[in-house]
Amino acid sequence: MKINIHKMEGNELIFVVIVAKYNGELVMVRHKDRHTYEIPGGHIEAGESPDEAAKRELFEETGALDFNLEAIGDYSVNGRCGRLYIADIHKLGPLPDSEMAEVMMYKEGIEWTYEKIQPFLLQFAEDYRAIRPIQVNDAKAYHDLMYQLDDETSFMLYEKGERKSSIEDFEKRIQGMIEGGICYVHGDKNLNGFIAVNRSHINKIKHIGYIVIGILESHGGRKIGTMLFNKAFTWAKANDIHRLELTVMVPNKAGVNLYEKMGFDIEGVKRKAIYMDGDYLDEYYMSKLL
Ligand SMILES: CC(C)(COP(=O)(O)OP(=O)(O)OC[C@H]1O[C@@H](n2cnc3c(N)ncnc32)[C@H](O)[C@@H]1OP(=O)(O)O)[C@@H](O)C(=O)NCCC(=O)NCCS
Repeated sequence: MKINIHKMEGNELIFVVIVAKYNGELVMVRHKDRHTYEIPGGHIEAGESPDEAAKRELFEETGALDFNLEAIGDYSVNGRCGRLYIADIHKLGPLPDSEMAEVMMYKEGIEWTYEKIQPFLLQFAEDYRAIRPIQVNDAKAYHDLMYQLDDETSFMLYEKGERKSSIEDFEKRIQGMIEGGICYVHGDKNLNGFIAVNRSHINKIKHIGYIVIGILESHGGRKIGTMLFNKAFTWAKANDIHRLELTVMVPNKAGVNLYEKMGFDIEGVKRKAIYMDGDYLDEYYMSKLL
């Protein structure tokens, strides 16, 4: 069963699902007719907006009285589309009279009602929550991430073993990124991926953001790249950036596909831009206007 993630635009939505946390724990519910557990959610009723449906379902199915709610993506399974939310519940009241029999915090080994769909949505929501702006004290973790990427992929700039930067060098680089742009990372103590938007301080070109992205193989294909781009777009729009650009080696199919999916166009070819494994490779110049 393939679950597709979509932009939150123009989709005919049927249901909402809310990945909610209470005191840092994941909130699961059990239907009166079932012994298995699920993430709260349900159908959008006639005349209701998706946000209203999410608020109503979260209250009816868990008793949540005070919470914040954020829509993070639309998804479809077999052509039926739903909106995924994350919520932090601040106050949980008694379970209202509803079709739910029980509210329980997630435990390892729990039996899921929708085991092909909901663990995927949970992973997506956890990945979304794991994305944050980099801080200077991430220098060691960022250093380790970059060295690991150098080892794993030939599509970043450095060859394996070529980089000679110390943790102090990365501290300075992070400081520069914070002052001159933004870098979002995925992870906590260890980092699994990043996107950096660098901008010049020069007046005539400071509306341009130059993008670099890298995600560890172990975390590829989980939509982390897509989420990092969406964060970068929001930051760029709020910071007067009107053009985003990047270069990508032509054989990097995953990169080119991701960038096209995120709305970048190929503007030109940088011929013989890369020398690798005894051969010259072309790069694409790609850009997106905001
Ligand atoms: C390229 C990269 C950033 C993709 O990140 P990701 O988190 O795996 O991408 P997502 O899961 O968000 O996928 C989004 C889209 O990218 C494309 N894509 C991702 N991985 C792909 C792969 N292995 N093959 C082909 N297309 C792929 C697909 O179009 C995908 O959409 P779909 O899932 O609907 O088919 C990541 O693979 C990476 O960092 N690679 C190594 C370093 C690198 O190449 N950096 C870029 C240098 S310019």
